[in-house]
Amino acid sequence: MTNQRIKMSLFGRKKFENPAKNSQGEFEVNNWITSEFIVQKLVPVVGVHPFPLDELSLMTATVCRFRPELIFEWGTNIGKSARIFLEIVNAFEIPSHIHSIDLPDEVFHNEHPKNDRGKLVRGMKGVTLHQADGVTRALEIIAQQKPAGKLLFLVDGDHSYESVYKELAAILDAQPDAVVLLHDTFYQVPGSNYNTGPHDAIKAVLSARGNAYRTISTQLGLPGMTLVYK
Ligand SMILES: C[S@@+](CC[C@H](N)C(=O)[O-])C[C@H]1O[C@@H](n2cnc3c(N)ncnc32)[C@H](O)[C@@H]1O
Repeated sequence: MTNQRIKMSLFGRKKFENPAKNSQGEFEVNNWITSEFIVQKLVPVVGVHPFPLDELSLMTATVCRFRPELIFEWGTNIGKSARIFLEIVNAFEIPSHIHSIDLPDEVFHNEHPKNDRGKLVRGMKGVTLHQADGVTRALEIIAQQKPAGKLLFLVDGDHSYESVYKELAAILDAQPDAVVLLHDTFYQVPGSNYNTGPHDAIKAVLSARGNAYRTISTQLGLPGMTLVYK
């Protein structure tokens, strides 16, 4: 079964069968196919930090299910998440381009990677690196290019309630059919000292839109990732 599901391309690179069971309705992917990809292809390249296995699984399933024409993600940092998306679209032969954005060097942020910005994807076909405010640049590119296909965002910049609220609201106001992944969304019982800003912001943004969106969250532990989609 395993060998049937993995094809070899002309260049000897492993290609994986589409694991999406459907493109509408209930979210379902073939978990064995995504797991084989994650273990064989993804983890050897990107490891499990800062995105543990359940988050790699959610990222892979999301890209395979929605087949986004464009992927916008911030912040780039050293390029882990951009590289994850690149490995997914290449392995599953999904025509897509990744725009990865981090702040300009002169704007202070305690997690800014300075000279290491985007080093895991620098110069790679399929990824464009930008320096700007993430949501602002993403919406500018969309306004210029007017893509017809699905749009996927990864919101992983500043993890305060205010930033996540502002960014998710701006995305859904401009692109109501967007698919959005958000990082650092794990929520523990009240009283824990975890930053629940992203979790609380998602709740507030979706409740202000009549809870018309569905969510899938990894709930096993930190850091946590949430998918928002219609
Ligand atoms: C937690 S790191 C992101 C981790 C990264 N996605 C990865 O794959 O490892 C946060 C990054 O977001 C950047 N950042 C913070 N606010 C931002 C904003 N408004 N726009 C773009 N990048 C931002 C920071 O400079 C930092 O590099």
